[in-house]
Amino acid sequence: MQKLLIKNIGALVQARPKSSKWIAGKEMATVPIIQDAWLAIENGIIADYGTMEEWTGISDWTGLEVIDANEGFVFPAWCDSHTHLVYATSREGEFVDRIKGLSYEEIAARGGGILNSSQKLRLATEDELYESACKRLDEVISLGTGAIEIKTGYGLDMESELKMLRVIRRLKERGPIRIKATFLGAHAVPVEFKNDKEGYIRLLIEEMMPAIAAEKLADYCDVFCERNYFTEEESICILEAGKKHGMIPKVHANQLSCSGGVQAGVKTGAISVDHLEYVGEAEIAALKNSDTMPTLLPGAAYFLGLPWPPARQLIDAGLPVAVASDMNPGSCPSGNMVQMMSLLCVTHKMTPEEAINAGTINSAYAMGLQETHGSITPGYVANLVITKPMPSLAYLMYAFGSNLIESVIVNGKKV
Ligand code: NIG
Ligand code: FE
Repeated sequence: MQKLLIKNIGALVQARPKSSKWIAGKEMATVPIIQDAWLAIENGIIADYGTMEEWTGISDWTGLEVIDANEGFVFPAWCDSHTHLVYATSREGEFVDRIKGLSYEEIAARGGGILNSSQKLRLATEDELYESACKRLDEVISLGTGAIEIKTGYGLDMESELKMLRVIRRLKERGPIRIKATFLGAHAVPVEFKNDKEGYIRLLIEEMMPAIAAEKLADYCDVFCERNYFTEEESICILEAGKKHGMIPKVHANQLSCSGGVQAGVKTGAISVDHLEYVGEAEIAALKNSDTMPTLLPGAAYFLGLPWPPARQLIDAGLPVAVASDMNPGSCPSGNMVQMMSLLCVTHKMTPEEAINAGTINSAYAMGLQETHGSITPGYVANLVITKPMPSLAYLMYAFGSNLIESVIVNGKKV
């Protein structure tokens, strides 16, 4: 048996004896913390924890590895429930175009944006995509990500969407962290269907989905519900078809306008609706009494200069809120979850505790992993972030330019 003991933990954060579905409303303001703690791990699974003061010592030291946290904090590793980590090339040219005054939508209308990435991805081989994705995955793991969702959506034809899904399957097999795959064929209408969106939707539903289901390549189905992309009705139709093929709905919702994306998500029982820059009373009312997780992507809002989503209104309405990176070459070339949580505090006026709940338990829910990831709970996967010594929890988000991560543990092993 592999045994690991972490001792002298300055603060053990998000330690909960039992699993929670999610943390909502006022509850988000609190994160359970045990000061001066120890944590025991067996075969990559969290076994037990307590305070150093009450520690009775160890009866059997055989094969035991000990890590001294030296008063650093220990967090559950972050869960990143929304990324586009598989892509062919970066798009800093568009970044410069935006600095010079073009908007994200204007760049897309000229054939840039998602269609630019699609052109490049179609030319890349599966091996090339896999190699570059491995590097990005290793980088975000070193930044503390312990579970990740990855979308397609740069293929936009049968062959290239399947190529992306096979890359994601190889990443799942490679590990070491849990990965969920999302089919985002409805990310944009490809050039060859420019004047025939209906025809493209038929291709998605009648040909791509059955092929994906036959190989069980996707856990989720996502749609970019937005003006000039897919309407609320089209989104519902695509997501319902995905459900018939065993894919749970997710939505890119209300990023650039009041698109009906939140409503489409709630109506189809989506596990999450993501972005939410343009939401008001109607969307908040729709989310209440639903099982759909409102997920904020502050990196994309920051990078594109979009209005901040009304995070406070969502929380004050009693809703849960999750955070993810949206890592992609266009709207957020960062997969750094600490940076995302720091943005939540500075720009969305969420407290550090709310940000931690958003990036751990709630983002685990948004990718169906709340029974195994996102908190320090006996029986959960031992994916952890050990920090350098810090004066407080808030310091992690306050010191936004410092890398405070000392080490990352995945499945009970240092990576
Ligand atoms: O989540 N908005 C749609 N999709 C991505 C961006 C994709 C891209 O620009 O490549 C997003 O922001
Ligand atoms: Fe996205």
